[in-house]
Amino acid sequence: MLSIRTARASDVQAIAHVDIETWRTTYPGMLPDDLLTALDERQRARQWSRFIAHRPHDVVLAYDEWDRLQGFGSCGVQRETVLPYAGEIFTLYVGPDDQGRGIGRQLLLALFQRMLGEGLSSAMLWVLAANPSRYFYERLGGRRIADRQLDMGRFGVPAVAYGWSDLADVVRRSGRTRSRID
Ligand SMILES: CC(C)(COP(=O)(O)OP(=O)(O)OC[C@H]1O[C@@H](n2cnc3c(N)ncnc32)[C@H](O)[C@@H]1OP(=O)(O)O)[C@@H](O)C(=O)NCCC(=O)NCCS
Repeated sequence: MLSIRTARASDVQAIAHVDIETWRTTYPGMLPDDLLTALDERQRARQWSRFIAHRPHDVVLAYDEWDRLQGFGSCGVQRETVLPYAGEIFTLYVGPDDQGRGIGRQLLLALFQRMLGEGLSSAMLWVLAANPSRYFYERLGGRRIADRQLDMGRFGVPAVAYGWSDLADVVRRSGRTRSRID
């Protein structure tokens, strides 16, 4: 059975593993091979460790009944102020073997709930324009709101933004009635 909960310091290794595994199965052809080859699990774990130390409730995890991490997502206040959306989904990744089983939907709704709990009533995210996962966001009611080049260090990659102007309505429609995440 799937369980959704917020992150703890002891989760960082598993998060870094799923994070990099998902990057390497999702982004070939969209991001340069050398960038994907250079991804380092220990370095990624350190980044997650810092994020979780400050904001454990902004990272939501999906575990199976054998305590195996299947996916995760993170959120917070929107980093830019140009777009009229209060919150932002920073990451959402479901491991390659666990995609297409409803986990991404549950994680996204849990992140929406988290933002609502923080008084953020709308949200957006950026996704690479070439990533077919963007149709997942369309399926979940996201409206395409902007396009730009995403800064990936030494180059830019076309990206599109999706927005949800009323998170409470999305959560209500999903039938998700739990008021807190364990
Ligand atoms: C995108 C992602 C988070 C979706 O999670 P998931 O668990 O695979 O998706 P779900 O099973 O919850 O799908 C929910 C709905 O979206 C649809 N959907 C999922 N991926 C889709 C896609 N690529 N294209 C069209 N529809 C899609 C499903 O068919 C399902 O539809 P339903 O309402 O008819 O049941 C996951 O596939 C993933 O991590 N992909 C690779 C990494 C990535 O690109 N992450 C996003 C970075 S911004």
